[in-house]
Amino acid sequence: EFDGVFYPSFIPFREKGAEKALQDITNFQSRDTDVMICTYGKSGTHWINEITSMLIRKTPELDTANKGMTMLETISDFSVIDTLPSPRLLNTHCLFQYLPKKHIENRNKIIHMIRNPKDTCVSYYHHATKDQVFLSFTGSWNEFFDMWISANCAYGSWYTYEKEIEQAEKDYPGMIFTCSYEEMKKEPTKGIRRLSDFLQIECTDKTIEDIAKATSFENMKNNKVDPTAVADGNSHIYRKGIIGDWKNHFTVAQNKQFDSQFAEKFLGSSYRMLFE
Ligand code: A3P
Repeated sequence: EFDGVFYPSFIPFREKGAEKALQDITNFQSRDTDVMICTYGKSGTHWINEITSMLIRKTPELDTANKGMTMLETISDFSVIDTLPSPRLLNTHCLFQYLPKKHIENRNKIIHMIRNPKDTCVSYYHHATKDQVFLSFTGSWNEFFDMWISANCAYGSWYTYEKEIEQAEKDYPGMIFTCSYEEMKKEPTKGIRRLSDFLQIECTDKTIEDIAKATSFENMKNNKVDPTAVADGNSHIYRKGIIGDWKNHFTVAQNKQFDSQFAEKFLGSSYRMLFE
């Protein structure tokens, strides 16, 4: 825990403590060509990571060599990623305030995916229940809902996270690409084209269509190795991949409570229309 926020028990957090682990991320010497994927957990990180990776590699082939992602908060010694070729694709769920200073000062690229917080919360509950190594949640859905809504889950408040990125978009125009899970799901080719324009990567319509097909939920679930899969083969990451699963979990009272918190905390946000 640091500054009132809990973190998963990743090795650097266990060994150095959260404050030092976060400082090391902030002081990480990023390269100008690094691309950073920034998401609140369970917003579609693996999906947008794979799409970006295909655009960079200019191929609609799933990256099977790199099974996971290069997640900054899991790295104890950053020299291990020194050997990765540029452009490196990095990611983190940490708040914008902890991002590598150098990355921000040099206005290097950031890709941000946002998802309806109700679906994010449900997805998080399932992940936290399955992941008995880093998150180790053993309670009920109702208990998880209360934790999430009071920002007592790992990485803290969804609102704080999204508001910091929204503010950064204003402070650093052109540095951050934002798309929603929902828009990528409904019109993947449009979302992928927008992303290739942001990355200034030339792509034919055919390549964009092929990437959309290759990064469909079904193809990724069936063909991408999920490094978090537990011994029983259950994937933590590729669960349902749909919009609106919250309706199968939220009670009427929970929905009302969520809506009223959302209205209060996210009133003026321009992100609202991305998933509403
Ligand atoms: P669900 O639990 O709702 O199914 P993250 O990568 O940030 O951990 O997010 C995981 C969520 O994204 C899971 O949501 C997962 O199923 C969904 N997801 C992963 N790959 C996807 C894809 N190719 N298309 C749509 N959703 C995907």
